[in-house]
Amino acid sequence: MRRTKIVDLLQSKEFGKQIIVKGWVRTKRGNKQVNFIALNDGSCIHNIQIVVDVPDFDENLLKRITTGASVSINGELIESQGSGQSVEIKAKTIEVLGECDPEKYPLQPKKHSLEFLREIAHLRFRTNTFSSITRIRHAMIFAVHKFFTEKGFYNIHTPIITASDAEGAGEMFQVTTLNMDSVPRTEEGKIDFSEDFFGRSTNLTVSGQLEGELAAMAMAEIYTFGPTFRAENSNTSRHLSEFWMIEPEMAFYDLDDNMDLAEEFLKFLIQYALDNCMDDLLFLSKRLQEEEKNKKADERSMELIEKLRFVMENDFVRLTYSEAIDILKNSKPNKKGKFNYPITGFGSDLQSEHERYLVEKHFKKPVILTDYPKEIKAFYMKLNEDGNTVRAMDVLFPQIGEIIGGSQREESYEKLTGRMQEMDIPEKDMWWYLDTRRYGSVPHSGFGLGFERLMLFVTGMSNIRDVIPFPRAPKTAEF
Ligand code: 4AD
Ligand code: MG
Repeated sequence: MRRTKIVDLLQSKEFGKQIIVKGWVRTKRGNKQVNFIALNDGSCIHNIQIVVDVPDFDENLLKRITTGASVSINGELIESQGSGQSVEIKAKTIEVLGECDPEKYPLQPKKHSLEFLREIAHLRFRTNTFSSITRIRHAMIFAVHKFFTEKGFYNIHTPIITASDAEGAGEMFQVTTLNMDSVPRTEEGKIDFSEDFFGRSTNLTVSGQLEGELAAMAMAEIYTFGPTFRAENSNTSRHLSEFWMIEPEMAFYDLDDNMDLAEEFLKFLIQYALDNCMDDLLFLSKRLQEEEKNKKADERSMELIEKLRFVMENDFVRLTYSEAIDILKNSKPNKKGKFNYPITGFGSDLQSEHERYLVEKHFKKPVILTDYPKEIKAFYMKLNEDGNTVRAMDVLFPQIGEIIGGSQREESYEKLTGRMQEMDIPEKDMWWYLDTRRYGSVPHSGFGLGFERLMLFVTGMSNIRDVIPFPRAPKTAEF
């Protein structure tokens, strides 16, 4: 007989049926007559209750059933006597698959801090919080592919090892097989990468966009969904050194089409979570409210499910960077010197404090900012006629700040190479990218959604290290 998953047993009404259930013990309680085991197998947030008639079982066997132990139980599905659950299992035979020493097991049946759980990331899947996040993460991955598949986009695998810096920010991890103890040098004393594995200097990619653009120049609508790596030394609750990014790239789209797609995409993902992950969302919502009990009323965030619905029901506000700067410059926190980075005028880079002010305080809705100064954006963005701004768009979300960054791309060969010269980007290494502008160039656009930023929003968690199983951040690569 094969095991039945707990998620299916809890739906079942086949009382009297013989079943096998396997999982990990969350708690065991009871008395000399009867024991109750709460069992979880990862298939849903709920445990199933196993009823054990103590006199029917060997005393030593029951002693080995402790929190954290894994068991296989053969039993009968029965209607629950107690409240809180509809079905339970009356155990016939119990096999302990793996014992778990309760003295040593780091996960006690009590609330642990998220900081502590990060130190035992190899075990944190066994908590309600992380099993919920893991299920929602899976649902969101699936929803990403569903959205684009239904729209006729093709998924492209772009390289992880690359010789180019797509964002031009120089925040890359080097990939090399050179011997660090005796690095080969050229006559000028520089590192001789011609002797390296690929015969040139290579890095882990910061974005799949450039290769995505190549594919879009023939397949019209594509998307990538892969790991990206950034060696920026930012120890914040919204940055990872290794994160996953979804990057659609579309031929024949202008910036308005791009914004429409981004908004539709985010709303689709959120609706998918509401439709398919409600048990886990309800659990996370309760957890969040518990956590925020001690905060002042005006510092508490909106209830999780209400917040997700709120985003679904509202159009995102669209305005230009210049308009946003005017709002920020005249805002109370700016005038009172409350921003860490005061806004002086056009050209100021926006920090998350500014983004969140616009979203949470001023508009109270998600915001899409467009037409940023060219100096603070990447080389590939299309130059506006004013010669100063580019057709960039950032989607800003409550609690997160920037969740999506994108743009219409510069399709003119002359303008693109002009920008590259201004920004000191060597054309020689980018000949393949520039070829798309030489041969049948078309207006095109795309964007990147940081998958863990989406996960932060959907789960209501506040630290990005808690929405990816094994976070990579400065000085953090244990598991
Ligand atoms: O704005 P970014 O840097 O844009 C790009 O990489 C473009 N190539 C995207 C494109 O147009 N195809 O990054 C895109 C998104 C950000 O909006 C943010 O959500 C996320 O990626 N992101 C990070 N997420 C976690 N940790 C980091 N260090 C991140 N840096 C960016
Ligand atoms: Mg960005």
